This record gives sequence, C-alpha cells and structure tokens, in this order.
Amino acid sequence: MLKYISNKGGGKPVNFETAILNGFASDGGLYVPEKLPKISKNELKKWKGLGFKDLCFEIVSLFIDREIISSDELKIIIDKSYDAFEVENAVTLYKLKSREQTYIMELFHGPTLSFKDIGQSFLVNLLDFLLKRKKESLSIIVATTGDTGPAAANYIAGKSSLDAWILYPKGLITEEQERQMTTLHNNNIHPVGVYNCPEGGDNLDTVISKLYSNKKFKKKVKLSSINSINWGRIIAQMTHYFYGYLKVADYIGEDINISVPSGGFGNLCAGGFARKMGLPIKNFIIANNKNESLNRIFRNGVISKDKIHETISSAIDIITPYNFWRYLYFCNGQNSKNIKKWSNEFETKGEFHFDDKTFKSYRDGFLSFSVSDKSTIGTIKSIYENENYLLDPHGSVAISALNSMDEKLSHNKTICLATAHPAKFPKVILKSLNKTKLPEAGKHKSIEGAKKKCQKGYHCDYSNLEKSLLNAIETNWERSKKIIVK
Ligand SMILES: Cc1ncc(COP(=O)(O)O)c(C=O)c1O
Repeated sequence: MLKYISNKGGGKPVNFETAILNGFASDGGLYVPEKLPKISKNELKKWKGLGFKDLCFEIVSLFIDREIISSDELKIIIDKSYDAFEVENAVTLYKLKSREQTYIMELFHGPTLSFKDIGQSFLVNLLDFLLKRKKESLSIIVATTGDTGPAAANYIAGKSSLDAWILYPKGLITEEQERQMTTLHNNNIHPVGVYNCPEGGDNLDTVISKLYSNKKFKKKVKLSSINSINWGRIIAQMTHYFYGYLKVADYIGEDINISVPSGGFGNLCAGGFARKMGLPIKNFIIANNKNESLNRIFRNGVISKDKIHETISSAIDIITPYNFWRYLYFCNGQNSKNIKKWSNEFETKGEFHFDDKTFKSYRDGFLSFSVSDKSTIGTIKSIYENENYLLDPHGSVAISALNSMDEKLSHNKTICLATAHPAKFPKVILKSLNKTKLPEAGKHKSIEGAKKKCQKGYHCDYSNLEKSLLNAIETNWERSKKIIVK
C-alpha cells in the first residue's frame, strides 16, 4: 500500500484517504508519498492522444490504492470535476504568431476562470466522496490571494459534507474576484474580507496555521485544508503539464520548456514532480513579479522573507512559497530531518542559506526571473496589438519572464501558462491597452452576472482575526453538526 509521510518526518505514515482528509501532517509538515512513481517513455507514448479526464485518471491513479477508491469511483469524481469546464479538455493551447515556438496554455476555462479550478474541483469532489462514505463533515479554512477562494467557494457551495471559511486580504484582490465569493449565498460558504494585513495573503496563512495547531479548538471542530498544502491539489495539477507536453511535443522525448507565473510554488511543485516522474521538461521558468522569494531561492540559494509589494499581478503577491519545502524533500535524498531543521530556522530567523550541494540539487532545470509591472503591462499591450490576443496579468508575467531569457531557450518549444482569465482584472487590462472600454475578450458572462447580485460575507480587522474566527467557526460548527451528511 502506498503510504504518505510528513516531509518533516513526524507522525506515523498514513494512507491516501487520511492524507487528503487531514490536509496538514500531524507535525505541521506537508504530506508526500513515500516514493514518486516513474513513467516510462512507452507509457507516455500510450498517453498521447488521451483527453484531459482520461489523462487525469491515469496520473492520479498512480497515487491512490484501489482499495481506497475503485476505478469506477475515481472516474465519477474526475467526470464531476471537469464537466462544468467551458472546453471539452479543460485546457486549451494557443500558438503565438509573433513569437516562434511559443504556446500559451489557457488554464482558465473552469467555472471561476483560473487554474485553481483544476486542482480545487478534483480535491473538493474527492473530499466530498470520502466524507460521505464516512458519514462525516469537515470545516475548511482557506486563504486566498484572489483565485483559490472563488474556486473553493464554487465547489464547496451546497455540499453538506463541507463548510468553508474563506479569508482574503480586503482591498488586495480585485472586486471581480471578491464578488465570485460573496455572491454565492449558500449557507456553507463564509467569505471573510480581512483589513490591514501587513503582509497580504501570507498573514492569513499564519492565522490558519495557528488555528490548525490549536489542539483545544481542533478537538471541538474537525478541520482540514484545501490550499495547495493538500496533496490532492498537487496530483490533479500534474495533469496540465502532461497534457500540454503531449499536445505540443512532436515525439516523446522532445525537450520543451514551461514558463509558470508563480507565488506559493504549488503549481510548479506539481510540474517539478511531473518531471521527476519522467516528463521531458528541459527548463521550468519561474516567473515572479516584484515579490521574488522564488527568484532568490533559485538564483542565490537563499530563502528569505521580504516585505510584500503590491503589484498588478496580485494573485502572485506571495512571500512564502511553502510548497518549495515539499519539492525540496525529493531533491535532498528525502532527508526529512533537514527539511524540519531548515524550515524551522527559516521560520524563526526569516532567512536560510542552502549549502552548495543542496542548492545544486534543486536548482537544475529551473530558470527564474522577477518581472516588473511595466513589463507586465508592455507584454499585455504588445501581444494584444500584434495578434489580437488578450492576456491576463499573470499570463503576461509568464511571457515577460520568457522574453527576458537567453535566446538559446528558443531552440526548444516553450509553453507559457495563462493561469487566469483577463475578465478578473479589468482595471489592469484597461490601463495596459490604454482604453476606457474593455474589448470582448476581457469580459466574461459569469463576471458580468456577479455584478448584478448582492454580496454576503464577513469583514474583520487582522488584529482580531484569530479570536473572531475561533468564535465564529465554533458557533457555526455546533449548529451545522445537526446537518446530516447525505
Ligand atoms: C492567477 C494565478 N497565477 C499564478 C498563481 C501562483 O500559483 P502558485 O501559488 O501555486 O505558485 C496563482 C495563485 O497563487 C494565481 O491565482
């Protein structure tokens, strides 16, 4: 049986079901499988031509024992997860005309218009399946920089097994993103706009960690997490890397590059694992905005906390790339003692320098760049003018980072991930195009629809958040315990 362990080494190994239901490992670490499966070139050849759902089935099956979820059950979960997407294969590819060998993979065709739909839909449907089978329910606390929250709210809405508290930094996400959460009126969705977060969304993660480690609270309320700390998100997100590769590669084994707008390293962690499992990715380009924690890790071998910068690619205004520690575990010979020691040192001192051997072990195959708002705007404008294609600010960060790289990269095909729909960021689009009216490509019916609905949610100051949340969640839990899981 495939076991899951904490990347910090504490607690006992658990099975897939427990890893998913718990979210965090008992020592506060992140769950990792005892080993990563390998995929041969022959297997990859067989996967060429598979649709997104079938490919997802093949990939996630590698991490789930059949005794826990049967093939038929897994297929139903996957169908449910991607049926509501606007395109048949969940994602699409667009080949740029103005840049050779470059593709944009659009990951924003799910109901809430960002790549978060890919992992979140699968994880929530999986949790719902596992909870209903146990006749149990869970409370979820999730922090968002603008896209995780809407996806979580959309999938959890109306599910009697789950209750979601969705924290967002008030004023630091777009009004469109906020409305995606606050215009759902289901009783199990509780958006909380938090004022005065000195470090943006990262502060919310800190409060969540405190609540998870509060033993008294956890005795009363059953909690889990659906941020990308949950392993279920990572395995679903592997699918788009395999799918994109199999679509653009002329033969299995062709090296390609992938540029990824990054913050918490959740998306890239899935990509990095896909490569370790056998996907022939030559380089990943880590595209940061001015919040360049990942750029420092991969350029200088230093993980450090800087102050948060407000940028126009606000969903990646993140300073703590917590999934990096999960990836590092598989680079340093699965040495959990070191992960624990180093991550603790980083938490207490705000900085940690990796030794040369470790630096080399994780750096190979990654290039990184910090993109300014000016470049982000310039790329949106030039791609729109040159080929009438509208990027969102995060897709633009991916292309801008690629533009800054050595020409040599162009010998290989490159896929840039467009992680959100431009309709979520109308102000940036108008500014970039120097227009007063949005082009059609910058609109979406669901965003327009949400403008006509009234909003529901909590507001709280950061200084009171932990205490207020404790009370609100406990009270709600008592009430919702009476709900029978159907
Ligand atoms: C639109 C968008 N792009 C990119 C990212 C970065 O993903 P990750 O945090 O997994 O690096 C996020 C969220 O964090 C996002 O919402």
